[in-house]
Amino acid sequence: CGIVGYVGSRQAAPILLEGLEKLEYRGYDSAGIAVRDGDKEPVVVKAKGRLRVLADKTDNGHALKGCCGIGHTRWATHGVPSETNAHPHVSTDGSVLAVHNGIFENYLEIREKLARHNYRFYSQTDTEAIVNLIDYYYKKYKMGPIDAIAKTLVRVRGSYALAIMFRDYPEQVYIARKDNPLIVGLGEGENFIASDPSACLKYTRRVCYIDNFEMGCVTKDSVTFYDLNGDVVEKTPVLIDWDETAAEKGGYEHFMMKEIHEQPKAIADTFRAYLSDETDGKKLDYRVDLAKLGLTDELIQSLSGVTIIGCGSAYHVGATAQYVIEDLAKLSVRVEFASEYRYRHPVIDPNNLVVVISQSGETADTLAAMREAKEQGLKTLAIVNVIGSVIAREADFVLYTYAGPEISVATTKAYSTQLIGVYLLAICLGKARGLIDEREEQRLLAEIAALPEKVQRIIDDKERLQWFAAKFSNAKDVFFIGRGIDYAICMEGSLKMKEISYIHSEAYAAGELKHGTISLIEDGTLVIGVLTQSELYEKTLSNLVEVKSRGAYLMGLTTSGNYDIEDTVNFAFFLPKTDEHFADSLAVVPLQLLGYYLAVSKGLDVDKPRNLAKSVTVE
Ligand code: G6P
Repeated sequence: CGIVGYVGSRQAAPILLEGLEKLEYRGYDSAGIAVRDGDKEPVVVKAKGRLRVLADKTDNGHALKGCCGIGHTRWATHGVPSETNAHPHVSTDGSVLAVHNGIFENYLEIREKLARHNYRFYSQTDTEAIVNLIDYYYKKYKMGPIDAIAKTLVRVRGSYALAIMFRDYPEQVYIARKDNPLIVGLGEGENFIASDPSACLKYTRRVCYIDNFEMGCVTKDSVTFYDLNGDVVEKTPVLIDWDETAAEKGGYEHFMMKEIHEQPKAIADTFRAYLSDETDGKKLDYRVDLAKLGLTDELIQSLSGVTIIGCGSAYHVGATAQYVIEDLAKLSVRVEFASEYRYRHPVIDPNNLVVVISQSGETADTLAAMREAKEQGLKTLAIVNVIGSVIAREADFVLYTYAGPEISVATTKAYSTQLIGVYLLAICLGKARGLIDEREEQRLLAEIAALPEKVQRIIDDKERLQWFAAKFSNAKDVFFIGRGIDYAICMEGSLKMKEISYIHSEAYAAGELKHGTISLIEDGTLVIGVLTQSELYEKTLSNLVEVKSRGAYLMGLTTSGNYDIEDTVNFAFFLPKTDEHFADSLAVVPLQLLGYYLAVSKGLDVDKPRNLAKSVTVE
């Protein structure tokens, strides 16, 4: 979910809606705002569905007077998407109202307690219970807002970013945070609150990050932060240096297509960030240096293995990394879903390095898994895109990817930069372990340096995929098959397809087909084979022949030169040649484009697929 707030001299509602639009990627099944004109009663407007509905209801915010307000765009957790369950939520007598991102786990017991004290509930949300609990303490102990919030936060379990208004305190917004992102943007005679800086970049670049268990009071001329004891906390603002236009579509019909096109630059930026200074990116003189992140040769030499943790596409990057690291560094690698790792009570090898991969740096499961690993005394390296995010701040070492803001829910450029991160890691591990000499390092890095131009060539060839997608927009099931790295690529290709085009798809290790899935192949079923690994080419090709003889329609994705594939498949797409460890970086691009074009040809909302959210900050 996304949170915004404004206190200043301008009309708040249009600014709040504008901010919510930037945060819509965080959830979009309902939205709401509350604004207040001086000390008049706050006005709350909510709407089910996209933000557009709320904007239409309020004449883009112009219908609502007042210079102080809060807003929310929701991704439902407790309670179905509906106008009633949308935020802001108001306490029984209207004294306190709030927007919330996260989950309060013990809200049912709080609800029961408050019901005994004559509080009445209109929604099924955890947030409404907490708003009333704040009100309860506020009145019972006649405390100020900060003390009432602090007392509430000690009583609840869960995660939250909160923005709260009190009837008795006009022109003020109170905030609090634990495990969910929240920032304050500092303006001149106005201040902003948001889940992420992109919501207020148009107005200010000076932001303060709120830490766990911190609270704040925001007025038009001041921002004061407090710890749970109510003591004032001093903070130094950070200057955000990314460009606001990075969060706009810039002529493309969808963010996803824009972000696909940004991949060559994102890959190059991430690669260059980790070349050691003395080489300055000069051709044939590449050196990768991760010692500045803290990954010293000594530390690497003490490692017995690597555990990689992530969710969704980040997990798929881990799947590829497993093959690349094991091959280049001969270190054993295990890849796990964060949601599994966190509850699995893993057997800990103290010499394991835990690599956590996350675009947002705030995925709840990934964060919890990383904390679990840290608690067990393991060293953690985070590969993260969002600078200053919780995971980045808590990890022992951080390798930032430089994809820039990614808005489309289906990840493309962040995935591509995460791959670069793991390639560089694999090379460093291999070097420190004496398996990669200087010449080999140069050769591998030169191959990575050449990827952006090759990705560009694939993008330039996109019309062929558009044509193919148009032919298959009615497909019911699609199967992706491959072996080794190609299997990891299949997993990501399959996810891209199903999440945005709603076509059921599955990725299979090609050799596993015959153990069950082959029974699903019917006349005309689309099977996409990925064949970038020459050692496995013949094997996967013969699996394609097997499904063809059962009626499958075949697409083959392989490296240029393998032209004999055309004897078997109905449609072939050829990729530029590269070192095969890095084939995912090229093969994933046509699969992203295929998913995109299928979704477009079905008239679907590509950037905001149903039921999904980009940052999943709840379990
Ligand atoms: C969500 C997104 C996925 C993403 C996953 C992990 O499910 O829809 O695209 O891969 O979260 O997100 P992270 O920010 O941790 O990379």
